[in-house]
Amino acid sequence: MSNFVSVTREGGVAVVTIDNPPVNALSFHVREPLMQALVLLRDEPDVAAIVIACAGRTFVAGADITEFGKPVQQPDLRAIIAVLETIAKPTVAAIHGTALGGGLELALGCHFRVADTGARLGLPEVKLGLLPGGGGTVRLPRLVGPLKALNMIVSGTPIDAAEALAAGLVDAVFDGDLVAQAVRFASEMVTGGEPFTPVCDRNDRLAGADLAAFDKQAAELAKKARGLEAPIACAQSVRNAITLPFDEALAVERELFVKLVGGDQSRAQRHLFFAEREAAKIPGKDIVRRRIARVGVIGAGTMGGGIAMAFANGGYPVTLLETSREALERGLATIEKNYAVSVARGSLSEDAKRQRLDLFKGSTDYGDLADCDLIIEAVFEEMAVKREVFGRLDAVAKSRAILATNTSYLDVNEIAASTSRPQDVVGMHFFSPANVMKLLEIVRAERTAPDALATAVELARRIGKVPVVVGVCHGFVGNRMLAARGSESEALLLEGATPQQIDQVFTDFGWPMGPFQMGDLAGLDIGWRNRKARGQTAAIADTLCEQGHFGQKTGSGFYRYENGSRTPAPNPEVEALIRDKAAEKGIAPRAIGTEEIIERTLYPMINEGAKILEEKIAARASDIDVVWVNGYGFPVGKGGPMFWAGLEGGDKIIGRLDHWHERTGKDIFRVAPLLRQMAASGSWEDVAS
Ligand code: 3HC
Ligand code: NAI
Repeated sequence: MSNFVSVTREGGVAVVTIDNPPVNALSFHVREPLMQALVLLRDEPDVAAIVIACAGRTFVAGADITEFGKPVQQPDLRAIIAVLETIAKPTVAAIHGTALGGGLELALGCHFRVADTGARLGLPEVKLGLLPGGGGTVRLPRLVGPLKALNMIVSGTPIDAAEALAAGLVDAVFDGDLVAQAVRFASEMVTGGEPFTPVCDRNDRLAGADLAAFDKQAAELAKKARGLEAPIACAQSVRNAITLPFDEALAVERELFVKLVGGDQSRAQRHLFFAEREAAKIPGKDIVRRRIARVGVIGAGTMGGGIAMAFANGGYPVTLLETSREALERGLATIEKNYAVSVARGSLSEDAKRQRLDLFKGSTDYGDLADCDLIIEAVFEEMAVKREVFGRLDAVAKSRAILATNTSYLDVNEIAASTSRPQDVVGMHFFSPANVMKLLEIVRAERTAPDALATAVELARRIGKVPVVVGVCHGFVGNRMLAARGSESEALLLEGATPQQIDQVFTDFGWPMGPFQMGDLAGLDIGWRNRKARGQTAAIADTLCEQGHFGQKTGSGFYRYENGSRTPAPNPEVEALIRDKAAEKGIAPRAIGTEEIIERTLYPMINEGAKILEEKIAARASDIDVVWVNGYGFPVGKGGPMFWAGLEGGDKIIGRLDHWHERTGKDIFRVAPLLRQMAASGSWEDVAS
């Protein structure tokens, strides 16, 4: 029929196969022949049943995201599903791999769904700032019930085949040749003569729906939406499935979809989807990756323990090295405790915990690292210690082993120079907690070999991380921009803002927390030590640290945390301290508005991002966005700082940076030439390549 859709016959069963690599997205060139095939088969008397299956690694993984924002070419997915639902012979979706978004909606247009045991099914549109726009919000509740549908659609998290079977989303789960079994299933549906009803007409799961329970659940989910429109629209649309007739609910779903797809939030989230995939690509397609079978981690402290867990979670055996038995035991005990918490929460089985713990081998002898293919150090942040560790590694590591550092700020070139094999040295900068946070800055030093870099990037993806390649500079991409974001915090306090006010501006913007809440959480002593090492001061934060107020861990910092609470409460002592320090410096407090807080914290951050691009520390503006969304909680609905700069307007940002530069003379407000170029051309892509 077409290169993308073919039809074969197995007796009276027609098998329609979609073949649109890599993920069988429902592009126009698939929809058109698919529609033709279905219309033909619907009317063909010899065809008693129809199976829809896919070639390659997966069932349809959704609409073609690259088509969003362009005029829709007919037939659209809704038209195809409408035809499917007019077919008066059994239709069966044969699902392997992932049936996601429009893919699952296509399957919901069939009378039956059968799945391979390894299949995963979901409606992840919310992660793209959308709601399912092909009838998913009105059909899924008819199969799995409104509450389950609400949770699936608002979270966007797919479920596995077993859960789908239990929930009523699929009718059978098979091992082995899925298409053959789907054909047999379809034949049975023909000969069994049982009635089959299109999903749109199945109302029994809706009839007894408890609307009050639904609304309660929806309100709880809405609280977590943090300014995102899509989760709210998803919940509203599932509710419509209960309260409105099918066609009306479907029409409202469409209206909501059209509104979201044209909005900035969805554009931002689609940008991030592609940005993450782009960031993992490095030039040189034919580079042969090195084989990594065992990983070594040096240092079992906060980061080393988390890094070791991240690899064990990815199935890699890990040798964990410490300076003393005592430190090692402590590190291993923390790891075990962390896994026990996951078991208690129900996110890990006791068996899985055991399997993961079995992957650990503890040691205090560098010789035990000789069989590791990748060794990451996470020891104290001091160049002398790092150099000593790398010198010792050089002596014991096998040839071509990758030697990685988790340093936050230090010069990876200098670390590499303490070995005889700088080509094997790379930075792998994890974020805390390393077993949870997705971001991994992969630092390319001057002499890092392309295959070592490519291996680190691939490995990161394998353990579920989001890798971004960055160059060497103080703090790489993330921490360098964080410093630019934070540099005006103290000044704002002294001039009249409060920590609560600044943090509120950040949370209203969509951040999970503001800079002072984050400082209290991470520990104010970290920044204090860093400042002391660099000869810098921060009047208020330094005083807090000198008085022993390090944040949550000491019960007080910029906020108070009473009786072990993690909820920040205003701290009158800090407010008094701010007033005293301001008086000492002769600063008269004034009212500070939201705009000013944004201009003096977020604009310098974008300016720093432009400098990072100029210096080629990051390859693309979108890489910077990936760093900030995955490592620091920049709101996804704003697409990362560089994408947001486009929304905010380059000219506006430059105007205000110029204003603050004139007023303060501070370097962070001196506009980067690349930012001016971006403002003139309207896009980072045109100026940063
Ligand atoms: N449209 C267009 N391209 C897509 C795509 C889609 N829906 N899904 C994946 N791709 C592309 C990726 O950009 C990537 O391209 P590249 O090789 O040029 O970088 C390629 O396919 C492979 O993707 P991954 O690298 O992500 O492959 P994985 O094997 O790691 O993951 C996957 C496969 C789980 C299917 C993952 O790609 C994924 O989650 N895709 C998106 C699924 C999704 O969001 N579907 C809903 C779309 S919206 C929708 O359907 C609206 C409807 O309701 C109307
Ligand atoms: P930590 O103090 O919790 O742990 C360091 C561990 O290294 C200690 O257990 C210590 O006993 C061990 N160690 C010291 N010298 C050693 C040696 N020669 N051989 C073996 N073990 C040795 O420190 P943390 O926070 O885990 O930081 C480690 C590294 O990770 C630093 O470079 C830091 O900058 C970086 N980092 C820290 C982050 C954080 O949020 N804590 C985030 C990202 C990176």
